[in-house]
Amino acid sequence: MSDLPQERRLVTEIPGPRSLELQARKSAAVSSAVGTIMPVYAAAAGGGVVVDVDGNSLIDLGSGIAVTTVGNSNPRVVAAVTTQVQAFTHTCFMVTPYDGYVQVAEALNRLTPGSHDKRTALFNSGAEAVENAVKIARHHTKRSAVVAFEHAYHGRTNLTMALTAKNMPYKHGFGPFAAEVYRAPMSYPFRDAGVDGPAAARRALEVIEKQVGADNLAAVVIEPIQGEGGFVVPAPGFLPALVEWCAANGVVFVADEVQTGFARTGDLFACEHEDVVPDLIVTAKGIAGGLPLAAVTGRAEMMDAPHTGGLGGTYGGNPLACAAALAVVETIEADGLVDRARSIGKTMLDRLGALQQRDPRIGDVRGRGAMVAVELVRPGTTEPDAALTGTIAKAAHAQGLVVLTCGTYGNVLRFLPPLSIPDHLLAEALDVLDGVFAEA
Ligand SMILES: Cc1ncc(COP(=O)(O)O)c(C=O)c1O
Repeated sequence: MSDLPQERRLVTEIPGPRSLELQARKSAAVSSAVGTIMPVYAAAAGGGVVVDVDGNSLIDLGSGIAVTTVGNSNPRVVAAVTTQVQAFTHTCFMVTPYDGYVQVAEALNRLTPGSHDKRTALFNSGAEAVENAVKIARHHTKRSAVVAFEHAYHGRTNLTMALTAKNMPYKHGFGPFAAEVYRAPMSYPFRDAGVDGPAAARRALEVIEKQVGADNLAAVVIEPIQGEGGFVVPAPGFLPALVEWCAANGVVFVADEVQTGFARTGDLFACEHEDVVPDLIVTAKGIAGGLPLAAVTGRAEMMDAPHTGGLGGTYGGNPLACAAALAVVETIEADGLVDRARSIGKTMLDRLGALQQRDPRIGDVRGRGAMVAVELVRPGTTEPDAALTGTIAKAAHAQGLVVLTCGTYGNVLRFLPPLSIPDHLLAEALDVLDGVFAEA
């Protein structure tokens, strides 16, 4: 547990004077294209709080976008990284390898869904790993097309921009994008009244069969619960039907679990919820407690398809990040964090569901585990209310909550607390949110 007092404490306006000073320096020094959601400069973080440079202690409902799942500066992560940094910081796994990388690969092969023979390759970011999953699928199938879904987010590199659905801010003006990427309709129960999972899968597969053709298709890439696109939880049966079709057609099913992985959703991986076994699974974010690490894990025959030397990168599987990842795995198992995510999810869904009963602007409350969102609409409709979402997020920030928004229509407030958040802070955050909604 963190040494920081686990309290919400506001000693200045948010942002405070020191943060404002730093924000002015940021504007002069950092590209304005790199935005900040909440210009509150961090000084320390742990448990369930972020302490800023003005001494304010904020309740963390963002985990640095689903990264610090085991808590910021988790003691096991700090100890493991400290030991590693004193031994060596980098040799490059492709030059003189080291044990930590192999151990992380072994852990991922053991922990990810499916009992088949697996292999893993490590990278630096989610986007880089998604790109590599596509490279592997193409090499294995000798086909080139890739299908992604409406509302998908897979990153900001050229290929992953093509896979990502939303134009602003991710793609606008950055084209041309990679070729041979096709988009299929998603299962989005709130906006899809009456279309159940199997029917939504049939709708997607018809698009795929008519517009792409299974024989041309290397991979279907999907987030089991969509992240940036709005915490969209597909209807039951949607993912299993896609997996079945992929298996029948020699198409590689790639689960992008960059945001959903590592206990976040109340399973170690979100695919487990419906017993979905992906051919390749992409992980990042929560994997290493805040150090940059990402992975592709999957069927040995697919992972071994590219020629030796075909995959890699200078920093992929950096020794510090690997040490952190092993500490993360140990923490999830030792501290029962999968169960902790479920209990956080129950608290959030209960409280936000009660709020929805009182507030007709909340059209939908959804999510699993510690990945929960509310979608804001004009009462009685599904018409998105992005302006209200922005107002609520701002008011929550001013009250000392770190909350994020998302969604294709910018009308989703999402909650991703670290699993180290104490119950009393989570309850206080939900009380504050009740007040913010009452006043907005
Ligand atoms: C589902 C998903 N895939 C890929 C990415 C890209 O990861 P990164 O930002 O580490 O490149 C993200 C990031 O938010 C994500 O949520």
